[in-house]
Amino acid sequence: MSFAIHFAPPEASSVAGRVDVLFYGVLAFSTALTLLLTGLVVYYAVKYRAGTSADRTGARGRSLPLEIGWTGASLVVAFIIFAWGAELYVYRDQPPADALEIAGLGKQWMWTFRHAGGQREINELHVPAGKAVVVSLASQDVIHSFYVPAFRLKQDAVPGRTTHLWFIADKPGRYHLFCAEYCGTQHSEMGGWVTVMPPEQFAQWLAAQGQDESLAEGGARLFRALGCSGCHGPSSKVRAPDLAGVYGKPVALSDRQTVVADEAYLRDSILQPAKQIAAGYDPIMPSFDGLIDESELQMLVAYLKSLSASSPGRSETSQ
Ligand code: CUA
Repeated sequence: MSFAIHFAPPEASSVAGRVDVLFYGVLAFSTALTLLLTGLVVYYAVKYRAGTSADRTGARGRSLPLEIGWTGASLVVAFIIFAWGAELYVYRDQPPADALEIAGLGKQWMWTFRHAGGQREINELHVPAGKAVVVSLASQDVIHSFYVPAFRLKQDAVPGRTTHLWFIADKPGRYHLFCAEYCGTQHSEMGGWVTVMPPEQFAQWLAAQGQDESLAEGGARLFRALGCSGCHGPSSKVRAPDLAGVYGKPVALSDRQTVVADEAYLRDSILQPAKQIAAGYDPIMPSFDGLIDESELQMLVAYLKSLSASSPGRSETSQ
């Protein structure tokens, strides 16, 4: 029987080693400082305890250079730690453009995932090793938190918005996935496994799951079923913006502001259309809040994004 206590899970993502260096670096620095200060406190407490003949006549004056020195040094150290953490934060916040996209959804009490080809998983997530993967996270109900300790990554899934987390899993294996935000009675059971496979094996696995309706195809189906195409389609008599190519482009609003049509904008435009009106159009679009659920919203956004994909002829709303 092994009594070994694993101090930390394995480092299984491209960012894990860098997080650990930062963590152990700050821990070592704090430990050294704690030992130094505690040592001085104990030393002086013993030396100047009541009844000793220690010399107590020393000057009580202040040394300005000394005060400036230690204050300045603390400031410099604090900024070094800040810059170190900030650099890592910015890195883990910017997925590469060619990352594999997976839609993740948290709900009481499970994680569901959909691959770009439509393959679904529950409490299991298969990803290829050595390839950048970006998981977009949404929540159906309350705040959940996607947490894979071996990746050293944690990201909240917040109702009403889409958040992202990306990683390159560099070691094939199975790693625990948790929900790290208290979300109700079965919070502690909400989790599963991330399986990292060599790319060829992953491709085989994906093919074996069968080709389901892709996320964007599901979105296109909803776009017609919900009647969106009636107004946003090319043959529509109602004046509504043509959505082909809108994703990622600046949109002029009626209040003279300009916003970039990112995922948050698309999402808001579906749920709260009155919030930002495109310049030159009437605020006549109904809200779909409560009519579609989070996974349908993910499909619609995937469809609208696909209309901006560079390949011509994929667009369904442009002539
Ligand atoms: Cu979901 Cu805790």
